[in-house]
Order: sequence, then C-alpha cells, then structure tokens
Amino acid sequence: AVLGPRGGDKLADLASETKEMSSKDRLTTDYGVKQTSADDWLKVGSHDKAGPLLLEDPFAREKIMRFDHERIPERVVHARGSGAFGKFKLHESIEHLTMAPVLTDTSRETPIFIRFSTVLGSRGSADTVRDVRGFALKFYTQEGNWDIVGNNMPVFFIQDAIKFPDVIHAGKPEPHNEVPQAQSAHNNFWDFQFNHTEATHMFMWAMSDRAIPRSFRMMQGFGVNTYTLINAKGERHFVRFTWTPELGVHSLVWDEALKLAGQDPDFHRKDLWEAIENGVYPRWKFGVQVIPEANEHGFEFDILDATKVWPEDLVPTRYIGELELNRNPDEFFTQTEQIAFCTSHIVSGIGFSDDPLLQGRNFSYFDTQISRLGVNFQELPINRPVCPVMNFNRDGAMRHTVTRGTVNYWPNRFDACPPAAEKEGGYVEYAQKVAGIKARLRNDKFKEHFSQAQLFYNSMSPVEKTHILKALSFELDHCEDPVVYTRMVTRLADIDLGLSQAVAELVGGEAPTSTAHPNHGRTAPALSQTDFPG
Ligand code: HEM
Repeated sequence: AVLGPRGGDKLADLASETKEMSSKDRLTTDYGVKQTSADDWLKVGSHDKAGPLLLEDPFAREKIMRFDHERIPERVVHARGSGAFGKFKLHESIEHLTMAPVLTDTSRETPIFIRFSTVLGSRGSADTVRDVRGFALKFYTQEGNWDIVGNNMPVFFIQDAIKFPDVIHAGKPEPHNEVPQAQSAHNNFWDFQFNHTEATHMFMWAMSDRAIPRSFRMMQGFGVNTYTLINAKGERHFVRFTWTPELGVHSLVWDEALKLAGQDPDFHRKDLWEAIENGVYPRWKFGVQVIPEANEHGFEFDILDATKVWPEDLVPTRYIGELELNRNPDEFFTQTEQIAFCTSHIVSGIGFSDDPLLQGRNFSYFDTQISRLGVNFQELPINRPVCPVMNFNRDGAMRHTVTRGTVNYWPNRFDACPPAAEKEGGYVEYAQKVAGIKARLRNDKFKEHFSQAQLFYNSMSPVEKTHILKALSFELDHCEDPVVYTRMVTRLADIDLGLSQAVAELVGGEAPTSTAHPNHGRTAPALSQTDFPG
C-alpha cells in the first residue's frame, strides 16, 4: 500500500510521526547540517566592531526565510478553533439502517479528531463572542475518513449553498473599514437577516444563550444537514446527527461573555485543554434521528430544509454511541490548523440527500482546502486515513507519497489497483431515481420561514426570553442605519408581537401593532410523526 495500513490506531500512527526534542538533539538546518550558532548572523568586521551582515550566511537566511513563510491563509470562515483527539464508541448497532461498520460494529473504537470554532472572527479573535460554534469531527474509520462538519445549533441561516458567500460577507467585517471584527452587531449582518426571511429561525438561535456557550464541553453538536443511511438491502432512510454533552448544555450570561472576551480571550481554548490535561475527559452521547424514505413528504416542513429542525416529539432522537475527548494535540499548527474537514467525506452505508445546502458544501470544503493547504492536503498526517490509500491521483505541489510502478492509469495490463467490488467494501451509491426539468428550483415547503422561529421562541423559559430580548436590543442598538433596525423590529413581529414591541422600545423604531404573517404561510395539514425504525 502507498501509505500502508496502520492497524487503525490513529494516535499511534501520529505518534510515530511526531518528533520529540531533547537535550541530546543538536540544532541543524532543514537539510540536516549541524549549526554552530543560532544567535549571531555571519558578519564582516572585527571582534570589537562587527560590520554588516553577509547574505552569504545560509543558516541565518534559512531561519528568517522559514519564519517569513510561517503563516498560511486562515480558514475563510471558522478561522479560530481548538481541537482534540478522542474516540467514538458505538453502543447499539443500527445494522437495519446502514452498512457502515462505524455504525454497526459495537466492538470497535474509532479514533476521532474534533475541532470547535467560532464562525466569524479571525484566528486571533476572542472565544466568548456571540456567534455560532463549529463542531467538526473526523472519524478515522477502517473504511476511510468520515467527517461530520456540524455546528452547535441545529439549523442554519440559508437554505441553498449559493447564498453562503452573501451570508458570510454580511457577517464578517464590513469591506471599507474592517469593522466589526467578531460580532454580529452591525448594519450589514442585520440587513442580510431582514432581506432573507429564511434566516429568521437561525437568527433567533444566534440571539439565544446557545450563542454564548460556557464551555465547548457544554455544547450540543448537530450535523444540521440531512444525510442518508443505506442498509445492505439497498434501503434508504433520511438521517440527522446529534451530539449531546454529558455535562449538560450551559451558557454564559452576556455580561460574563463580554468581560471574558476582554480579560481572557482564550477562555474556551484553555478550558478544553485543561480539562483534558487533568483527565476530566469531555463526553457526548451520539444520537440519530431517522425518517424512512416513504415518509419523506409526511411533514409540514421539508425534511431537506436546513433552516428547520426535525422536532423530537415527531422524530425521536435515538442515542446509539458515545464520544470521548482524551488527548490534547501535540502541536497546534500541524494538527488543529491543518486538519481539513469535508462534508463530502462519507463512507459506504452513509450518503447525501438532495438538501441544497449540503450539496453545495460538498463542493466548497474540498475546493477551499486546495487554496488553504494545497492540492495534496489529504497527505498531511492529521488528514490521512488509517486504512490504505491507493489510486492514480498524482503529482501537484508538495506531493509526499512515492509510488513504485510503471503505470499510473486504469485499466492497465498488470491489473494493478482495480476498483473495489461491493463485497470488498467498495462505496455503493444508492440508486436514486432523478427526473425533472433543469431550472433554479426551490421546493414549496422551503418558502415558509417563520413557524419554527416562533416554535423556538415559544419553547423558551421567561428568563431565556428576556435574554433574547436583551441580545436583540444590544445587537440592533449597534446598527447606525435606522433603516436596518426599524425594519428588523417589524420582522420580529412575525415571531412575537410582544418581543418586537419591547425591542422597539429599547432601540427605537415604531412598535408594530400587528403581525405581518399571522398564519406563517402554513398550508399543510397536521404534522406527521415517525417512530424510530427498527
Ligand atoms: C468551515 C460548519 C455551511 C463553507 C466550516 C467549519 C464548520 C462548518 C464546523 C469549520 C471546520 C473546521 O473546524 O475546520 C458548517 C455548517 C453549515 C455550513 C454546520 C450548514 C449546515 C457552509 C456552506 C458553505 C460552507 C453552505 C459553502 C457553500 C465552508 C468553508 C469552510 C467552512 C469554505 C472553511 C473550511 C476550511 O478552510 O477548512 N463549516 N458550514 N459552509 N465552511 Fe461551513
């Protein structure tokens, strides 16, 4: 094998590539020559009067040159993050739903790497700002890498991936003055929210206490998008993935978050690091919500719409496994920074759906990593699978793998490296029937944007509702453009009239006297229900 099987032990695998520095080691150049000085550049002159530096000095030049090129582009989103190693243990097989051994073989422990992040801030921004948190996992399964690239909130701002550059541009610092650096409190963010009614549900989550978590260890994680599970009989179910922390879900209060952002911008990073160093390993239960294919259209909402949750009273979450984080990274850059998650990384037994956000993500991650890390990013130790990799992909900048052989194409006269048959574990595509016109389409149920925002708000306790009111007032009060905050106040009336009136009182703008969308565009009959299949 090119990279060689590593027996599935990712930690041992990485350890074998890790260098430990000791006093026995001697300083060398990158090409291995021992150096006599790390302190003085080669110069002309005398011992009591050193003259100019000589460009000739290869050691000094190499040291400065390497330093000059230390930075790579930060992630275009989720630039600030913290990672850890751990393991995934399956407690209950769902063999009747999927043929992926990671979800059927309860005797296995699958090594994982996780990266938590904020979305909008730059790499050096503070941890406790109001923002969505990334919750991205790479499972190093024996059948290849499987990534769940999720967030700590179960829904998203947009329904179709083509809107992603817009939502991110509107949330990132404004183009003329690079203000604000991390928070959502500005004109463009709220301008976007108003112009996209589909964002209503998600901005309510972002204004809730979920957006100021107390610790990474106390957040839920959600795959958000709708994936599919395919079993050995070729049957397909729709699925959403959830992580629920053993410690419970806890948040900061806004005043704490603001103070910590100033006093201790590494608050979450340190908390995770110290918990793991002290052996207090964070744990999450892993759950799945499953809808049989036949019931796809049985709900008031579209189950492929990432701005909607699948309410648990309709689609129960079944907890089938557990995640534990038990080892801090050895080095931040080579592991936490260079890890590359892709929603397109799936293993046989798991598939995509026609969720238009997911389909676009499947292109975007791979593509961005080519500019962030280079085309051979999958060869970096943190990204390599634990199983053998063998194919005819070749060359590109910084290619490491050396493959022996005289052919690099298929088919070839040696029958070298043929595709795998299904019984050998080859990835099986679900034979989905697809037909229709080619057009820029949007499913009808995607057009209803308020009912779940209202469901979310109504599910809050009085204290939580007050926090949302204060968060909205704080944020909208930071918008200088009256068009932005007065329009947003009217939008809030689509969720709750009392909320919009209270916000209007605090930030200005005319208080609405009625709701613009009293029936929230509901057209479908009563909600359907589905039990956990099995
Ligand atoms: C990065 C989650 C939507 C493009 C990330 C990361 C997470 C995440 C957790 C950070 C991964 C890490 O720690 O390295 C989500 C979720 C989404 C979503 C849950 C909605 C369901 C999208 C969409 C696009 C997109 C629609 C583009 C069409 C990106 C890009 C990165 C990123 C380009 C940077 C990746 C890198 O440089 O490694 N996303 N995202 N995301 N996301 Fe998303």
